[in-house]
Amino acid sequence: MEISNKDFKKLIYQATDMITDWYDKKLRGSKIYNNKSPAEIRETFKIKSKNKGTKAHEVIKKLEKNLIDSSNFNPSPNYYGYITGGGNQIGIIAEYIKAALNQNNLKWHSAPANSEIEKIVIEWISEFIGYNQKCGGVLVSGGSVANLMNIAVMRKVKGGKKIKEKGIYKEKVMRVYVSEEGHSSIDKAMDILGLGSENLVKVKRDKNFKIQINELEKEINHDLKSGLKPIGVIGIAGTTNTGSVDPMDEIEKVCKKFDLWFMVDAAYGGPAAGLKEHKSLFKGMEKADSILLNPHKWMFVPFEVACVLVKNQQQLKNTFSLIPEYLMGGADIDEREDLMNYSIQLSKDFKALKVWMTIEVYGHSVISKAIRNDIEMALYAYEKIKNNDLFKALHKPELSIFCFKYISKLKNISDDILNKKIIEEIEKDGRVFLSGTVIDKENVLRINCINHRRNKKDIDFLIRVLEEIGSKVEDKLGNLSV
Ligand SMILES: Cc1ncc(COP(=O)(O)O)c(C=O)c1O
Repeated sequence: MEISNKDFKKLIYQATDMITDWYDKKLRGSKIYNNKSPAEIRETFKIKSKNKGTKAHEVIKKLEKNLIDSSNFNPSPNYYGYITGGGNQIGIIAEYIKAALNQNNLKWHSAPANSEIEKIVIEWISEFIGYNQKCGGVLVSGGSVANLMNIAVMRKVKGGKKIKEKGIYKEKVMRVYVSEEGHSSIDKAMDILGLGSENLVKVKRDKNFKIQINELEKEINHDLKSGLKPIGVIGIAGTTNTGSVDPMDEIEKVCKKFDLWFMVDAAYGGPAAGLKEHKSLFKGMEKADSILLNPHKWMFVPFEVACVLVKNQQQLKNTFSLIPEYLMGGADIDEREDLMNYSIQLSKDFKALKVWMTIEVYGHSVISKAIRNDIEMALYAYEKIKNNDLFKALHKPELSIFCFKYISKLKNISDDILNKKIIEEIEKDGRVFLSGTVIDKENVLRINCINHRRNKKDIDFLIRVLEEIGSKVEDKLGNLSV
């Protein structure tokens, strides 16, 4: 399997040419989505069973020809889907170096630099968002896993002393509270942890998409009266639908009053707490018992990396540490902290390198500026849409997400149907990419502006494309309905 160093270098240059070509030609001025079918993609990349193997440079050539056209090019500022960050070039280089070093981050001595760099970036992130730098922390694959781990800690600390050995069977039914805007990974985590998704209480939100504190208290009191056991409240620092931030200070007071775990899902919005002008929006988050935050979203780091932060390091360790004989090896030196003790994973890659290189190269101020720019872009889009008769703005963006809709002029076609069709047509068109969402039971358009490359001209382009697609879809639906 070994390739000579000379050929290895050639292959790296070939792959590098392919990548730089994408960045030359595909960021703007070309489709970012080609709407290929699953069958077409499978046909292109299929591998015969008992295949003979192909020369590496030919495989890269095949990728040069096919990969970008079968992918969704999210580094482009024309990509507005989900809450997907566009990555950054230094992160790409970090991923390449990481793979070459092939560290396994299970024990300190299996990955020394990796272990220490992970702690360094966790401290940096904690300081950046104004959280406790001495907290326990670990990097994981994404926000969904980080939500699961956060709730696992909450369950261990507030649930009952014998959960580790006996499970939850002897406990009263445990209840966790989040607003109606909570991310679906929280429901999944409740299921996986045996707490049951019905025991995630979805508290009513207000018209600004934030949790209603009086409703939260009502739900907790009701559960206490019914003999259930409230264990924690999850505040959302940047909801997935609209990017709204819950009132953290007020949630914290409720948690204190009822002795509950205060967790913050800051998977998306957390980094905005690092900006002076937005700090007040997150006031109280610093008092959370635990937080999660995704560098692969709003710290512009390539996928995958999320961060679990627990104020009391020992509580994180108590939840995840389990050391069998075959993992006892290595010198017994106190400062050597094995990261496997803080995580579900044993083998883990050197995720911290791309975060560290991103922070080290760009620095505090460039990262802050990029976050600020994203919020400005969402606000710019809001102003443009607000003053455009074809559309209706559904809220003023608090962070980088903005929802709006194209207004139907057809009597028998609702905005709901029209906007659903527009999202489908955007896929077929391919010049921009939006994922859409449902608000108050209605399909709407939604843009997420996380991407340091985006500028006002990109937003103008987006609106032009949406005007064009909107009127095309409207014409089509109009013709169908006559
Ligand atoms: C608020 C929130 N929490 C959690 C997640 C899940 O994160 P991931 O996609 O990294 O699993 C998301 C994803 O968008 C999110 O918006």
